Amino acid sequence: MQNNIFSYQIVYFCIDKFILTISITKKMKVTVVGAGNVGATCADVLAKREIANEIVLLDIKEGFAEGKALDIWQTSPINLYDSRTVGSTNDYSKTADSDVVVITSGLPRKPGMSRDDLIATNAGIVKSVTENIVKYSPNAKIIIVSNPLDVMTYCAFLAAKVKPTHLFGMAGVLDTARYRAFLAEELNVSPKDIQAVLMGGHGDTMVPLPRYTTVGGIPVTELISTEKLDEIIERTKFGGGEIVKLLGTSAWYAPGAAAAQMVEAIVRDQKRIFPVCAWLTGEYGLKDIYLGVPVVLGKNGIERIIELDLNADEKALLAESAIAVKDVMNVLDEMNAQNA
Ligand code: NAI
Ligand code: 2OP
Repeated sequence: MQNNIFSYQIVYFCIDKFILTISITKKMKVTVVGAGNVGATCADVLAKREIANEIVLLDIKEGFAEGKALDIWQTSPINLYDSRTVGSTNDYSKTADSDVVVITSGLPRKPGMSRDDLIATNAGIVKSVTENIVKYSPNAKIIIVSNPLDVMTYCAFLAAKVKPTHLFGMAGVLDTARYRAFLAEELNVSPKDIQAVLMGGHGDTMVPLPRYTTVGGIPVTELISTEKLDEIIERTKFGGGEIVKLLGTSAWYAPGAAAAQMVEAIVRDQKRIFPVCAWLTGEYGLKDIYLGVPVVLGKNGIERIIELDLNADEKALLAESAIAVKDVMNVLDEMNAQNA
């Protein structure tokens, strides 16, 4: 009896080691669609940090993705990494069997434009790109970046016909990073020590949550005046627009790095807690909507949505943000009905 138990334990140990070895040695492939500012930055971060073994950069513009991929690959001897970056002009067969796909294709904002102004053009692009991606990588986890973010994520979801836990949007990681960077600057502390939760849509109605913001474990409200905190929250809400005004187009370093951080959480099964644009099915009293909420991100995509115990004011702000997102989702539904 004792011997039997011992040999079972050895067998289980070996199986465990075998599975671990396979998961460590499995070559990870990530595709980034759109080799523009955000896509190329994301690919560069993925390569530099060896988050994937192979990174495919795809763009519709002839030779553009190949050029960007080649330039990134040529940094490998300098930055000392061996992730391989390759480019493709609209040839989706090169993206086959990707583990994760990041979709950044679409127009960025110009001064005076809202994210919602981009809807018609970007919906067409996101739909066709997603259909091609799913054809070649049906099991990929798909991260949408194109704007207007929440509605483009919904658009991709309609086109992909995959589980919603496998398709989600990047905005909260970026918006929270902006909030944390502003706080770090104001408090003159390391941004590493600032933890925060931000919910809602990727627009002016986003909901940074001071009650869930800490600095080295200390509630932020103990370190900063209400007036200053409100100023930072307002600046965060319009953080995208601030950069559009300065550059004449939208940001790319922080968005590219934010998307890469989400890819890393999936590829390395890190179970990170991030605000992610996720499909809600009753959480926070909301359903049939893509909206930013805290989730656990791992190898299965969204592994869990975390439901915070929001107070009445926070709930009202989230509800307001949900209405704003739903309005634009309805515009997309009407456009789709007209084109049907
Ligand atoms: P960009 O103009 O630099 O790059 C977009 C690329 O998409 C271009 O190279 C273009 O040729 C390509 N493209 C267009 N149609 C395509 C198609 N059908 N197939 C493949 N590639 C196609 O723009 P940028 O700055 O990289 O922004 C990309 C998108 O990301 C924009 O919609 C922007 O608003 C959004 N964005 C979203 C953020 C977020 O937090 N979710 C943050 C920053 C930007
Ligand atoms: C940003 O927040 C425009 O969504 C883009 O930078």
